[in-house]
Order: sequence, then C-alpha cells, then structure tokens
Amino acid sequence: MITVEKERVFSGMRPTGRMHLGNYLGAVQNWVRMQDTHDCIYAIVDYHAMTTPYDPEELNADARNMLIDLLASGIDPEKCMLVVQSQIPQHTELAWILGTITPLSWLERVPTYKEKADMHPDYLHLGLLGYPVLMSADILVYRATRVPVGDDQKPHVELTREIVRRFNHLFGETFPEPQARIRRETARIMSLTEPEKKMSKSLGPQSYIGIGEEPEDIRGKIMSAVTDAGPPADGQMSPGVANLFLLLECFGGDDISSEFEQQYEDRSIRYVQLKEATAEAIIESLAPIRKKRRELLENPQLLERIMERSREEAAALAEETMQDVRARIGLLR
Ligand code: AMP
Ligand code: TRP
Repeated sequence: MITVEKERVFSGMRPTGRMHLGNYLGAVQNWVRMQDTHDCIYAIVDYHAMTTPYDPEELNADARNMLIDLLASGIDPEKCMLVVQSQIPQHTELAWILGTITPLSWLERVPTYKEKADMHPDYLHLGLLGYPVLMSADILVYRATRVPVGDDQKPHVELTREIVRRFNHLFGETFPEPQARIRRETARIMSLTEPEKKMSKSLGPQSYIGIGEEPEDIRGKIMSAVTDAGPPADGQMSPGVANLFLLLECFGGDDISSEFEQQYEDRSIRYVQLKEATAEAIIESLAPIRKKRRELLENPQLLERIMERSREEAAALAEETMQDVRARIGLLR
C-alpha cells in the first residue's frame, strides 16, 4: 500500500480573552477543515500574549478559556495536536537562534510592530520587536509548510520565509518555506463599532462578538453595530453594512443574504431588519458551540488529559528538529 505523507500545518492563537468571530471565521474554521486532510498542530501562543500589557492571573485563565473555545469550535484532539506554546521549550530555543540571523531592519518594517508600538508607546521592548521571530520558530520547529491565518498575519509568514532562506543558505537545507493559507472571503472581519478597523479584542467589548456569548448580548451588539444613513447613490456599500452582509452570509447562508442584497439594490432595505436577521443567524449557528463550551467547563480533567497527550507528541517532533538545528549551527552536545 502506498501511504502519502500528509502536509504539516501549524497555526497559533493568542489567549487574550475569548475567541471572537474574526478569529473563528478568519482562522479557526480553516483549522477545523484542515484537521481531516493534513497533519495539524495548533497552539495557544501564551508567550505571544505577553508582548502587550497583561495580567498574570488573567493570562492563565485566558489560556484555559481559549482551549475550551477551540475544542467547542470543533478542534478535535483525536485528529490533531493542540498544545500550549510555553509548555514546549523548543519554541523559545529556536526563536533565540533565529533571532541571531534576523536583521533588525526586517523586523522594524513589520506593520503589526508599528501598530502595536503606536498603541502602547510606553511598552516598547525586545519581545514586541522579536514577535515575528518567535512566530517563525513556532512554525519551523515542526517544519510546517501550511499556516492557516487571517489576512493580518501574512507579513509574518512572509518574514518566516525570508528567515528560512537565510538559515538554509548559512547552514544548509534545514527548513521548508511555509505558506500562509488565507480564506479570502473571511480574511478580515471588521469591528462592529469602528468598521474600518478589523474586529479585535483591543477595540472594546462592544466591537466584537465572542463565540460563547449569550444570545441577548449578541443581539445587543449587532443591533447597535455602526451602519450608515442608507444605501448611497453611488452604490458603494459602507464598511459597517458590508460587514453585516458578510456575517449574514457566513451564518445564515446565501439565500437570506441575497434577499437582503436585492433590497439593498432597490433601496428598500431597512437596516434594523438586516441586523435582526444577522443576529438570529449568528445566535442559531453558535448554539452548538455554546452547549459544548458548557460541557467542557464542567470537565477540567478532560482538558488536562488532552493537553498532556498533545504536549508529549509535539515535544518529540520539536526535539527532533532541534537536534538537527543544534548540530548544524555548531552547538556543543
Ligand atoms: P489573534 O487573536 O491575533 O491571535 O488571531 C488569531 C487568528 O485569528 C489569526 O490567524 C488572525 O489572523 C485571525 N484573526 C484575528 N482577527 C481577525 C479578523 N478580524 N478577521 C479575520 N481573521 C482574524
Ligand atoms: N501572531 C499570530 C496572531 O497574532 C499568532 C501566532 C503565533 C501564530 N505564532 C503563530 C499564527 C504561528 C500562525 C503560526 O494571530
């Protein structure tokens, strides 16, 4: 029998509060799909969460909640590995090594560095600048070739490819060049309150919807989402309305969203109805996730078991890579 080796996938999510619809539609739905066809490793990247201001007690609880949110969204530990970054020290070991071959100029031009530096000007440190190096190490320590992420992560994956080329040039062919997997339609879900910006936990609780949120909260947030004064004469849809249409299509399907699109075109649309339909579609689609979350919350031992098994398996893979890397770069063993 011919066995075809599956391609390896890696992706990570920062445990900063709960998973929101941007994470879910932009990345996690792809993670779930790829579990069946690829050899997948997914990580809660807690070291990355430390690059912006955080509270140690919350970091711990947030990592646990993110694990629950991922499992509730359909990540199945029977089909993939689900790990916590800080529990596998090879990630940071490799990050240090890659940091010694990454020019500062490559890091200073990364857009997320500039954004975060503007947002927290009194929190500029080496960890923030080196963020993409750690992300490269996350991917490369497993020699992953596919990285399912949202649009904002593309520059980081490009940088990883540059680091790979430099490393392979200096020390011989060691790593494959990974590629970002971006689902075009949902690569960028926008904030409900400032729809010209991407949905993110940093824009305040009214701006995003967590996947475990209660129906009345979801309804409240969608009903107060920013729209506009009505379809403009030039037919150019405003970002807030376009975002509602996208959410309606993702959660309610094509039929209902085409119906509202028709109304938008003939200018008979009432945004309050569009919002009601969108809220109901989201509430209904997320019902199984809410139920699964409640079950997982009652079963902390199951979480421990899942983490332990994946940790051992992933650490073995990471160690294999590191033995090769240490030998190539001349470390004494
Ligand atoms: P983060 O919460 O920044 O760790 O993001 C985890 C994953 O979700 C990454 O792959 C991001 O690209 C993706 N993501 C985050 N926010 C959005 C958004 N508003 N739209 C689409 N994807 C997103
Ligand atoms: N930087 C990613 C984000 O903010 C999270 C992340 C860390 C990641 N390491 C990764 C994503 C490796 C993909 C692969 O969303």
